[in-house]
Amino acid sequence: MIKPERLLSLPRLQGRESVGVRGGRETSLQLSLVEMLCSSARRWRGALCVCVSVFAIAACGGGGSGDASSSAATTVTTPTVAAVNLSLSAQVGQKLFFDNNLPASGKLSCASCHDPNRAYGPPNDLAVEFGGPDLLDSGVRAVPSLRYKEYTPAYADLLDNPDGISAPGPGGGFTWDGRTNTLAEQAKTPLLSSFEMANASVAEVVAKLKSASYAALFRQAFGNQAFDDANSAFNNALAALQAFQLEDPSFHPYSSKFDLYAGNKIGGTLTPAEPRGMKVFTDPDTGNCSSCHFQGAGLNGSSALFTDFSYEAIGVPRNAAIPANSSASYYDLGVCGPLRSDHLPRASGAVNEFCGMFKAPTLRNVATRGVFFHNGVMHSLEQAIRFYNTRDTLPEIWYPTVGGTPKTNRDPSFSTYGLITTQYVGGTVRKFDDLPAAYRVNIDTQLPLDGRLAGSAPPLREQNIADLICFLNTLTDGYQPPSSPPASGACVD
Ligand code: HEC
Ligand code: HEC
Repeated sequence: MIKPERLLSLPRLQGRESVGVRGGRETSLQLSLVEMLCSSARRWRGALCVCVSVFAIAACGGGGSGDASSSAATTVTTPTVAAVNLSLSAQVGQKLFFDNNLPASGKLSCASCHDPNRAYGPPNDLAVEFGGPDLLDSGVRAVPSLRYKEYTPAYADLLDNPDGISAPGPGGGFTWDGRTNTLAEQAKTPLLSSFEMANASVAEVVAKLKSASYAALFRQAFGNQAFDDANSAFNNALAALQAFQLEDPSFHPYSSKFDLYAGNKIGGTLTPAEPRGMKVFTDPDTGNCSSCHFQGAGLNGSSALFTDFSYEAIGVPRNAAIPANSSASYYDLGVCGPLRSDHLPRASGAVNEFCGMFKAPTLRNVATRGVFFHNGVMHSLEQAIRFYNTRDTLPEIWYPTVGGTPKTNRDPSFSTYGLITTQYVGGTVRKFDDLPAAYRVNIDTQLPLDGRLAGSAPPLREQNIADLICFLNTLTDGYQPPSSPPASGACVD
């Protein structure tokens, strides 16, 4: 089934592997890649080549220095998604998704923030997008991709871990904090949120639907009386948006180079750098990325989603570009609030194991993003990976220093790829500056973020980082194999 040379190119992926698990414990797992690839191939049959040509996605990795004030989300007017045997409900959902008239501004659709040309992720490298009646109200979180959500289970404090051995923990649900359980429930938030589509009420949304160009289609899908009751019309609109996201192949194209490789398809031959990067990704002693961005057989028959739907606190630095953060008392603490309200600390600073936890997102299409992490504080994939590598060993380049004196001329050895490029003499680094001290016990301790001492050697070498980036680039959908494989270049050797 798998070509022998393919197997040879898989370093240490077969046999017994030690895999880091949540909470820092280590155990052993029989990782049969052959089994994983075969089950994946079964599921992907027939779905693999759909929509490849619809999305010509630029692998852009970011690199811009977007701040929250430069420009609002672009308005997408031309749907680029082909309707492929969609149910009537999903067809309505497609219209809704691209309808600029739904919000109060009349200038925003779901697609403005979830750009179909960028894996339904943010259209630009702004940390947060703008919405509200005049498109002047800032959001508080980076826009996630809407791809590969079809297997997301409902949120549970103790969700089983798809690796089958790690202890259950917080997992599942939608948004960065898991506060909605279905795609339909999720759609309610942007339609009514004051800083997104800013509709005042359900009735306001339904009145717009009633006069929309697709009102007849809505009736066809949900009956002649579809608009008689505002609540049921609204719920049908939410169900329609969910159906569109579940049914349209553009939300789960499985058309990356990695998919060709895993399905043993023509064009899926990896360059030498890419499997080296895969090894860093899965190796519990170096990158260990797959212990959270799990690439094996997942829940509900899924496979290679590059997430286990779990939540962890990894101490991403505070982002001053988010207007809400100008209030020193405002903290986005993820699962423990304030956007989510069912796990709030009993009192300010009271013990709460959920504070600081955010969802480990899928890393499929991560190379198409210009903003990274829940608050969009990083602007390139390389920077995000370097944060994992040196959060603990060089905290001074990620978190602010207080009380020190800036050096006029930096030492030549001072690393400038971080968020802080000023070198200080003296002073104290405010590590984990976006998490109040009481909750820092929640910080995950698995590699590569194992809390090692400042100044010690980081877990990844330069070559590991370069290889990892090459591997993550294979997860971008819409891959068109070149007619002849490149003989040289960044990710070849
Ligand atoms: C103004 C920008 C904006 C608009 C417009 C918008 N969204 Fe979002 N969307 C976001 C942000 C930001 C998040 C993350 C929210 C959070 O974590 O609290 C998000 C999250 C989501 C999620 C959860 C994804 C995940 O990874 O769990 C879904 C699903 C979603 N949006 C669907 C929609 C739909 C459907 C529409 C149109 C009805 C829409 N969005 C309109 C910005 C937007
Ligand atoms: C302990 C679990 C864990 C491990 C191990 C881990 N991650 Fe993550 N990852 C997360 C969580 C949680 C987030 C979201 C954190 C946030 O936004 O506050 C995240 C976010 C990311 C993002 C940002 C994605 C986006 O859409 O914004 C990238 C990139 C990423 N991880 C790459 C990696 C790589 C590469 C490795 C291995 C070197 C790795 N991760 C290891 C849990 C983990």
